[in-house]
Amino acid sequence: MPEPDLKEIAVLGCGLMGSGIAQVCAQAGYETHVLETSEERLKPGLAAIHKSWEKFAAKGVLTAEQAAAAQRRLHPTTSLRDLEKAQFVIEAVVENLAAKREVFQQLDERLPPAAIFASNTSSLSITELAASTRRPERFVGLHFFNPVPLMKLVEVARTVATDQAVFERAVAFARSLGKTPVRTGDRTGFIVNRLLVPYLLDAVRALEEGVGSIVDIDQGMKLGCGYPMGPLTLLDFVGLDTTYYIAEIMFQEFRERRFAPPPLLKRMVLAGWNGKKAGRGFYDYRQGGEPQPMNLG
Ligand code: 3HC
Repeated sequence: MPEPDLKEIAVLGCGLMGSGIAQVCAQAGYETHVLETSEERLKPGLAAIHKSWEKFAAKGVLTAEQAAAAQRRLHPTTSLRDLEKAQFVIEAVVENLAAKREVFQQLDERLPPAAIFASNTSSLSITELAASTRRPERFVGLHFFNPVPLMKLVEVARTVATDQAVFERAVAFARSLGKTPVRTGDRTGFIVNRLLVPYLLDAVRALEEGVGSIVDIDQGMKLGCGYPMGPLTLLDFVGLDTTYYIAEIMFQEFRERRFAPPPLLKRMVLAGWNGKKAGRGFYDYRQGGEPQPMNLG
């Protein structure tokens, strides 16, 4: 159910995360404007949303009518002008400070002072992003998880400057999307990546040190701890480049070895073996069917 006095949402970026966020906003009843830099860049995200709605309709998660209504509420655009009525903005553009600051600054000039700004960043400082706008008290972190339409969690992060009422409004907004919000502060990695990233990096170290094979490390954690995916499968799913980038930022922040990317991860990223999206990572996805573990030498 949408929040009573909230109607128009803007989602910046229609990549893996942005498309999922736009999808859940439209599903929840919000008029959702999703921005990309070109029609070409909008296409894969919109295709993923439609595929997801088809799946949900086929499984009875949504009725065909609910899926069609959500579709009507989704407004793709390449123009900032179409976002001017947005009351809540969620940024999910590339994980780069300069790119995020630029788009926030452009919107800050165009949108009314009451609009709330949120970033889906997983590792950059919310405070630093907020400081590039004239509304740091109306700025929060809103961190979704991949795949957004299925994962229940949203981390809601406040900075020292965030207005308490705005923070609570962001928590209520996350809940209105059918998600379970958890409250956190502007600490690099928030709650989940603070704990998840060292675990994923340790799995790579265990592989490097010959503790077990790719399959055995994954099976160990899946069957021994009840995790839905083994850590190396999860790394392929999240993206080795993404994890490497987040780990580097966390290492710079905390200067602790547990956040330092292991050499094997770096070399796989250098080789372009970034996981599922690249066709290979710890597993080979190029043949289709059951992915096979790679021979990493
Ligand atoms: N929309 C609709 N359906 C989808 C979908 C989507 N976007 N994505 C996947 N599905 C479907 C699958 O195709 C599958 O359909 P099927 O049954 O018809 O084949 C169905 O959902 C369920 O998939 P599975 O049978 O593989 O079942 P699982 O129970 O394993 O669920 C999962 C899949 C939810 C992805 C589960 O494996 C999981 O929870 N994995 C861990 C994911 C995780 O940890 N994510 C967080 C990553 S960290 C992060 O995002 C933070 C960032 O900052 C790094």
